[in-house]
Amino acid sequence: MNSVKVSWTITAVLAIMLAFVGFKFVTGSTQQTDDGRTAIMMTAPERDMILSEMRTFLEGVQTIVEAIAADDMETVAATATSIGMAATGGEPAQLIAKLPLDFKSLGMATHKAFDDLAMEATDMGDANVVLANLGELMLRCTSCHAGYRFDVEDEDS
Ligand code: HEC
Repeated sequence: MNSVKVSWTITAVLAIMLAFVGFKFVTGSTQQTDDGRTAIMMTAPERDMILSEMRTFLEGVQTIVEAIAADDMETVAATATSIGMAATGGEPAQLIAKLPLDFKSLGMATHKAFDDLAMEATDMGDANVVLANLGELMLRCTSCHAGYRFDVEDEDS
């Protein structure tokens, strides 16, 4: 092969690789399922890790609801902050690559919304407003749960 052909071949291979990486970035590692949700395929330890984060979300919401009822905005703010953006960044790159872009955006928006909730609790401290905001925030939990589930990928795939 002459050098022009070689450089075209290299360019083509790089372009295909880049397109694949871009495609993966948007779609992640997913499969359609019978129950209408998109399954995100991951290893068992990855699934355990992300489900444990989910339980932390739910525990946080439980503490926040109780604190709102007690008009304890300090606890609301502290708890919301602990599951806000400060709680992101722990996932290994390998797992992040398996998550579809839409899922990642929704996940980030949920963490960010807890920071906003903490700010609302600190600034205004109106229990009814904070509760209404929490209700709206939780639409992110329910809409993501309606669209996705985690499945364990085959060991040898
Ligand atoms: C970006 C998507 C997404 C968001 C946002 C999200 N979840 Fe989840 N969550 C999931 C998926 C997917 C599962 C696994 C469901 C399955 O495999 O059937 C899950 C599972 C859970 C579980 C089960 C944990 C276990 O041990 O099995 C709880 C509890 C939970 N989520 C709580 C929450 C709460 C509370 C919020 C909002 C504050 C939330 N999640 C926001 C995607 C999300």
